[in-house]
Amino acid sequence: MEHTQPVVSLRGVTKRFDDVAAVDRLDLDIRDGEFLALLGPSGCGKTTTLRMIAGFEQPTEGEIFIGNEPVVGIPPHKREVNTVFQQYALFPHLDIIDNVAYGLKQRGVKKGERRKQAAEALAMVHLTGRENAKPSQLSGGQQQRVALARALVMRPKVLLLDEPLGALDQKLRKAMQIELKRLQAEVGITFVFVTHDQEEALAMADRIAVMDKGRIEQLAPPRELYDEPATTFVAGFIGDMSTVNGTVAGDVAELPGGLKVPLGRRLTDVANGTAVHVGLRPECGTFKPATNGDANATVATAMVLGDRLQVIAKVGDGDEVLLRQARTPENDAAAALRPGDGLAIDFHAGAGLLLAPQGSEDRALSATAVVA
Ligand SMILES: Nc1ncnc2c1ncn2[C@@H]1O[C@H](COP(=O)(O)OP(=O)(O)O)[C@@H](O)[C@H]1O
Ligand SMILES: [Mg+2]
Repeated sequence: MEHTQPVVSLRGVTKRFDDVAAVDRLDLDIRDGEFLALLGPSGCGKTTTLRMIAGFEQPTEGEIFIGNEPVVGIPPHKREVNTVFQQYALFPHLDIIDNVAYGLKQRGVKKGERRKQAAEALAMVHLTGRENAKPSQLSGGQQQRVALARALVMRPKVLLLDEPLGALDQKLRKAMQIELKRLQAEVGITFVFVTHDQEEALAMADRIAVMDKGRIEQLAPPRELYDEPATTFVAGFIGDMSTVNGTVAGDVAELPGGLKVPLGRRLTDVANGTAVHVGLRPECGTFKPATNGDANATVATAMVLGDRLQVIAKVGDGDEVLLRQARTPENDAAAALRPGDGLAIDFHAGAGLLLAPQGSEDRALSATAVVA
C-alpha cells in the first residue's frame, strides 16, 4: 500500500479567514482504501480541511490533488468525493429510497437502475424494508445510515465524514463506529473521518492525523501515536496520561520524596539533574495496598470499574496519577482500597515518558489531565 499513488494529496495548503489561518501549510497524503481520521480539538481546522477536499472551500494557498488531478477551483459535484455531515439533512417529504437515489437522479440514471442501486446501498447499512418510510419515521441512528447510503450509492473514490456520529447517544455511537469500520472494509472506499473524540479515532482509523492550530502534529497508526508520540501535544491528546514533576537521574526520574520512575521514551534531550515533566499512562505499573512500609503513594480515589480497578494516586509532592489494572483473583485486595490508604506502585520498565523541562511553557501540558 505504501507504494501506490495517494488518492488525495494536499501540498502546502493554507486557508485564511480574514487574518486567521484556519489551516496552515498542510501537507497530507491519503492512501487509497485507507480509513484516515482527522483528530484534534475544536477549532483546529478539521472541517476546513475536509471542506477544501470536498470543494466547498478553496485554499488561500497550496494545491490539492484527487487521483492525481489538481482540483482547486473545481466545484464539489465534479469531484470524485462525497460528504456525510453531522446534520444529515434528508429530504423530509421524500421516501427513504428516493432520498438515497436522489444523487443518481441528478446524474441522469434511469429510474429502475437507480432504485436497484439505492436498494443495494440500503442493504449495506441494514435498512432493507424501510425503503418507503419517511425520514421522520426513523430514529437518529437510522437517519444517519440513510445519509451514509445516500453518499455510498454515488460510489465516490473518497468518502468524507464530518463528525457523522456527533448527534448520536454514546451507546449508539459505539455501535455505529463498529459498523462504519466494517462497512468501509467491505466497500473499500477511502474514508476521511473528522472527529474531536480520540477514542472514536483510535477505534476506527488505520491512521490518525492529529491536528492542532491548523497543522498536523503527527500522522501515524493508533498504536504508534499512543506508544511513540512525537510531541507533548500528541502524548497528552491521545489516551489518558498523567503528568508528574521529577528530576532526571540517569534512567529514572526521581520524584520529591524519593520515588523513582523508570524513564522510557524521551521527547527531548535533557541533562542529568534537569527538573522535568514526566507523563504516565494508566497502565504504567501495577498497584496494591501497601504493607510493611512499602508505600510509595497514597490513594486519593479508588474505583472498581467492573472488570478493572482504577485509582488516582498521589505521588511526589502531591501530583495525581491515574492508574488502571485488570481485576484478577490475585490482586483483588486492591478492590478494597480507600482514600488515604498507602499504595505500593510497581512501575514497569520504561514507564515514564519524558515530556519537557519544567518551566518550558508547553501548551501540551494543558492537554494532559487526569481523566477517568
Ligand atoms: N467561514 C468561516 N469564516 C471565518 N472563520 C472560520 C470559518 N470557518 C472556520 N473558521 C475558523 O477557522 C478555524 C478552524 O475551524 P474549523 O475548521 O471549523 O475547525 P474544527 O472543525 O477543527 O473544529 C476556527 O478558528 C474557526 O472559527
Ligand atoms: Mg468541525
